[in-house]
Amino acid sequence: MDMDSRTTSSQSGPSMEEASTKRKVTHTLTSGYSDHVRVPNVIVMVGLPARGKTYISKKLCRYLNWAGIKTRVFNVGEYRRKEETACDAIHGANAYFFSADNEEALRVREESARRAMEDLCEYLDTSKGTVAILDATNTTKKRRKMVINFCQEKGFRCFFIESLCDDPNIINANVTDVKVNSPDYKGVMSAEQAKDDFMKRIENYAKQYEPLDMDKECHLSFIKVINAGRSFYVNRVNGHAQSRVIYYLMNIHLLPRVIYFTRHGESGYNRMARMGGDSPLTSDGDAYAEALELFFKEERVQDLRVWCSQKIRAVQTAKGLKGVAAHVEYWKALDELDAGICEGLTYEDIENRYPKQTEDRRRDKYHYRFPAGESYEDVVARLEPVMMELERQVYLSLSLSLHISSNLLQGNVLVVSHQAVLRCILAYFTDRALDELPYIDVPLHTLIKLVPRAYSCHLIFYTYDATRGIWSAREGTLNLCQSPQPSTPTNTP
Ligand code: F6P
Repeated sequence: MDMDSRTTSSQSGPSMEEASTKRKVTHTLTSGYSDHVRVPNVIVMVGLPARGKTYISKKLCRYLNWAGIKTRVFNVGEYRRKEETACDAIHGANAYFFSADNEEALRVREESARRAMEDLCEYLDTSKGTVAILDATNTTKKRRKMVINFCQEKGFRCFFIESLCDDPNIINANVTDVKVNSPDYKGVMSAEQAKDDFMKRIENYAKQYEPLDMDKECHLSFIKVINAGRSFYVNRVNGHAQSRVIYYLMNIHLLPRVIYFTRHGESGYNRMARMGGDSPLTSDGDAYAEALELFFKEERVQDLRVWCSQKIRAVQTAKGLKGVAAHVEYWKALDELDAGICEGLTYEDIENRYPKQTEDRRRDKYHYRFPAGESYEDVVARLEPVMMELERQVYLSLSLSLHISSNLLQGNVLVVSHQAVLRCILAYFTDRALDELPYIDVPLHTLIKLVPRAYSCHLIFYTYDATRGIWSAREGTLNLCQSPQPSTPTNTP
């Protein structure tokens, strides 16, 4: 008798297989998103230009999607650029367009906001998403009132994120690094002229700016993020999505850092193509562990912290790093996805013993939970504290020069973990869809260096060839792979 039918007949309640199927009914199978927190929320950005509103919107959107809360950004600037009625062909590159006394332009700007809100409404109404982020300045009470009325009418919760910043270094860096490259200026004027014009645009907005009023607008739900997260003011948090947003915003920062990721070296089970288990490294795996130690000795990474899973193969991989790193920590949360009754089996064994499980997993790999084990969705949930710590970490030396309290900060981090876990972490940083996540290619004996950029990440892959004892490097993106590999070769004529 195969194990699938044995578990079904020997239990009085639902079988493990039935339980796993029942659970999936609550999810949208195609999109990869869970729907257990579906109260539509509109997050409304507030603040002068160059205060990091778009940065926060994009980053928050990436995080919420990763956490299973389907989210989309509606950037009013993008709608403005598409307005056919724009009174001036190059309106974005003309600071006067944003002046309070330019009535014609004001109509165009209001129309852009209206269209963005129309689309946002369609997005939330048709259950495509749970959170919509309205990325605009929303600097006047009148505009905010319009948004509030709209949300009330539609039954959406409204939450404001106001970014206040008077640090000229942060503003200057944002204008120089991001704004002069905006589509408003590209090919229209030089970087110098663009910077000049953008500063005038900020002045025009500043004349009309009414920050969220802690007395007169105290009935609203909002967070004020002051000087890129140096301090916060939080008012009337309402519901799960809003509290998650606040938790997230209080952990992110704008400072530069590098994060390294690697799977453990090759293990005995890898060699036998068996899943999971807790086998030690093979000789090739040992060679990779030694090469890794040498790599970090030569790299001289400052304040290196190694975060390692508690599985033997990962602990052995990180062993030599104790002499190089400032600190090595062992996180249970970084252990490999638990394959439950399939632990220690090959994919072929699983296909033979549990054909239905194989079929279910193939159909929806992200939500599929191994009987007595985990799903990718479960792993994402248990990784949340790891992600928050990764977001918080920053160079210790940098924190000292910026007078940031060092007890809040970590050093540079190397994560030594496993294929499924690293897929989950890397999907967050590189903004990959949840249905792609279980297929991200994270090969053995490859060290991935990740440098977060304003709106994306830069990746370098260092691959170690154990037979030749050399590393090779390539820059690029994460590939997708067929995983598991098909066990029988296809019969091509
Ligand atoms: O094969 C190595 C491994 O890390 C297993 O321990 C784990 O179960 C598997 O990869 C996860 O990959 P997939 O989700 O593609 O089966």
